Amino acid sequence: MNANTAFMDTDFTQVLVSNVESAADANQRALTNTVISPRFYTTDFDAMDKLDVSAVRQEWDLMMQEYEGDNNHDHFQRDAEFAQEVKTLMAKLDEKLKQEFYDFLISSLTSEFSGCILYNEVRKNVTNPDIKKLMTYMARDESRHAGFLNSSLKDFNFGIDLGELKKSKSYTFFRPKFIFYATYLSEKIGYARYITIFRQLEKHPDKRFHPIFRWFERWCNDEFRHGESFALIMRANPKLLEGVNVWWIRFFLVAVYATMYVRDHTRPALHDAMGFKSTEYDFEVFRITSEISRQVFPILLDIDHPQFKVSLDKLTALSLTMSLAKAQGGWLNRVKQGYCAVAASVEFARLYFLPVIKSKLPTQVRLTPTW
Ligand SMILES: [Fe+2]
Ligand SMILES: [Fe+2]
Repeated sequence: MNANTAFMDTDFTQVLVSNVESAADANQRALTNTVISPRFYTTDFDAMDKLDVSAVRQEWDLMMQEYEGDNNHDHFQRDAEFAQEVKTLMAKLDEKLKQEFYDFLISSLTSEFSGCILYNEVRKNVTNPDIKKLMTYMARDESRHAGFLNSSLKDFNFGIDLGELKKSKSYTFFRPKFIFYATYLSEKIGYARYITIFRQLEKHPDKRFHPIFRWFERWCNDEFRHGESFALIMRANPKLLEGVNVWWIRFFLVAVYATMYVRDHTRPALHDAMGFKSTEYDFEVFRITSEISRQVFPILLDIDHPQFKVSLDKLTALSLTMSLAKAQGGWLNRVKQGYCAVAASVEFARLYFLPVIKSKLPTQVRLTPTW
């Protein structure tokens, strides 16, 4: 998961201002919290323990059978060509693309590991058999995902010390309902991101500059199923989707979409190498995520509203200006940072109050990953 809602923080900085040259740099990048980097979460375990999914029992039990079947148990192993592909393909990349790719690997790993820690902690702290079982399966999947990413970082000697990261990175407390909104979205966005990359590279295999992308199709089906689990939990507890909570859903939608957009626009070379522009990639991800989220959210963001992209671009520009100002230092730049933080909050509010699309919840919750 990589939901990040800290837009009210003033620190919009550290957007790729330094290179990753060593394992220490990579570990520092994973450890540092910025507005756009993935965070670690903790929650109210007693409230998690009291969750009741009986209203969606039939769909829930079918989903648990899928988890038990574990059709990806043999997926996260390298094939014979992997190492050779890394060598020949990476040798052709320029330094800027390499740096953006390392950043992609580090933030993806942090985000997978964040899910792993949270699901594991919930598992350890509840007795409710439905929730305990679910968390066991999801932690299993996320641990495989994190491990697979870390082995790719190790190829460059940038391996992340996961034990140290777990101990040293700070944790953000979220009430269970915020965990559901944020985690549901980041799992579904995770699916949409991976499948969009996979489909693009399927069409343009010459643009597949690292073998890890070959794993994304089966990998993202895990993320899709994790999202389904939170969708069922929320649909089983419809109060989470009504009244004032709709305003919270709106907040999380805007925060998660905006964070992704700003972060992806720090990696233009990465998307360019895959044959798309960051904006085009992100809007495809928004479109897929919005279509999917009709299964649970009573509102969708109007991503085609002309102001939507204008505000996202302004947030991106403000974030970059702040990074530069912070890197340059001095009192004038501190004033500049303060100005940008206020302007970013205003822009965020503008996005938040844009008209939304009302959506009627379907009777059947579960979807199949057909994108
Ligand atoms: Fe994952
Ligand atoms: Fe996941």
